[in-house]
Amino acid sequence: MNITAIYGSPRKAGNTDLLLQSFIRGIKESGGDVREIFLRDLTFDPCIECSGCNDTGTCVLSDDMDTVYPQLITSEVVALAAPVFFYGLNALAKAMVDRSQCFWAGKYLLNDPASKKRGSKGKGILLSVGGSKGKKNFDCIVLTMRYFFDAIDMDFAHHLTYGGIDAPGAIAEHPTALNDAYMLGVEIMKAR
Ligand SMILES: Cc1cc2nc3c(=O)[nH]c(=O)nc-3n(C[C@H](O)[C@H](O)[C@H](O)COP(=O)(O)O)c2cc1C
Repeated sequence: MNITAIYGSPRKAGNTDLLLQSFIRGIKESGGDVREIFLRDLTFDPCIECSGCNDTGTCVLSDDMDTVYPQLITSEVVALAAPVFFYGLNALAKAMVDRSQCFWAGKYLLNDPASKKRGSKGKGILLSVGGSKGKKNFDCIVLTMRYFFDAIDMDFAHHLTYGGIDAPGAIAEHPTALNDAYMLGVEIMKAR
């Protein structure tokens, strides 16, 4: 199974990194393999809203997103780990989401059959944390991810979100979070 895990936070070894690592461990200990992408190590621009992809389904920009696009369209599972910044996705992760507008254009403007070639739909997963315990903390990020996964023709199958997690490594003190992520990895492998 082709599984892609995307580290979306700018903070190395932060809370979403730890969650994603637990998820990956669950996959690997169940016999799976994972391609890891660290957005903070890539160089890419945000969407420039040139509408170029409206005609082609392909982004006009050429940068490190060129290595991410093939993973997004061929993976059976895409897991994004990203924190809440100002009630939305952090900018780095949001830039990747915005750069996926070319898939939205391919699917909805051009009706490109290639944009629906996944057949049995893939699974999209969000792992997120925020420092606040506000009830609406994850509303925006969850909505964004629903439309992102739809654009890349995947079901938004699972999300794990944890509030009140702020200091680096605080997620390790949560009573269930790391095990939840691990078990999600195990479950993904069982369900294949
Ligand atoms: C610029 C910025 C904005 C933030 N905005 C929010 C917010 O709106 N809501 C929230 O709950 N936490 C917010 N936080 C806190 C982070 O979500 C929190 O520290 C989280 O644990 C970071 O995860 P990471 O270690 O994976 O980067 C913000 C942090 C930063 C740096």
